[in-house]
Amino acid sequence: MRASNHLIGLLNFLTFLLSIVILGGGIWLSSRANSTDCLKFLQWPLIVIGASIMVVSLAGFAGACYRNTFLMWLYLFVMFFIIAALIGFIIFAYAVTDKGSKRPVMNKGYSEYYLQDYSGWLKDRVVDEKYWAKISSCIRDSKVCSKMGRTYNGVPETYDMFSMRKLNPIQSGCCKPPTDCGFVYVNETQWDQGGAAGTDSDCSRWSNDQQLLCYQCDSCKAGVLGSLKKSWGKVSVINIVVLILLVIFYVIGCAAFRNNKRIDNDEPYGEARMTKAQPSRIQL
Ligand SMILES: *[C@@H]1O[C@H](CO)[C@@H](O)[C@H](O)[C@H]1NC(C)=O
Repeated sequence: MRASNHLIGLLNFLTFLLSIVILGGGIWLSSRANSTDCLKFLQWPLIVIGASIMVVSLAGFAGACYRNTFLMWLYLFVMFFIIAALIGFIIFAYAVTDKGSKRPVMNKGYSEYYLQDYSGWLKDRVVDEKYWAKISSCIRDSKVCSKMGRTYNGVPETYDMFSMRKLNPIQSGCCKPPTDCGFVYVNETQWDQGGAAGTDSDCSRWSNDQQLLCYQCDSCKAGVLGSLKKSWGKVSVINIVVLILLVIFYVIGCAAFRNNKRIDNDEPYGEARMTKAQPSRIQL
């Protein structure tokens, strides 16, 4: 086996390790999709890309080990499209989660989320009536709100303690009414509406029914978008690092493969010559 074959084998092995990272990201997203994010379609491209890289790098690895030129060609050819797909996916992920931000709340540990701060394809998708019905029932079933209760030495937390807490976007948007409504705290998911009449339309959507809470609020939809933005930001950073490494490995792999072929063609008594048709020498 030639040095460049060893190199191609090594590169394929490293690529294989990268595919595990991408798959891990996709699986992490889908585990969140079932708990916090409640959007179950966005992680699939990542899982498909990760699995493809895994299969193709194994093919390339076998190709390098057994000096199978076809497998190495396949590796280089298919990997080109996978890298293109990954670039496309990173751009897509950036585009869908680019717009929108949370707003800090005065004297509170948590931020709040406003639907009008978000825009774009993902927002249209989330606010879509049919789609929102699925997402909101997923949030309810995830029990993220009922798990929000805290006690200190057996005493339920007070409003002051609650105010200091850092809430995740779903907890902040879906489990409590917006601060602007001016409702009086009873517990984390129960607020006395009193005579307060906030101007926010979410104030009238709030319900102390533990099955309803703020699941129909705009703040809840914004919270879902904020939550996606957070988890996708993390995955995108990993993807960009993986992409850079993948391209470097690919370029080195291409160079090594070309080098291999040149030596094959130059070698007068190499084993390659016996299996290769004569015209390939003439092409030189
Ligand atoms: C708040 O109180 C209501 C009514 O007592 C209860 O159903 C709910 O579980 C409590 N919320 C939390 C987060 O403990």
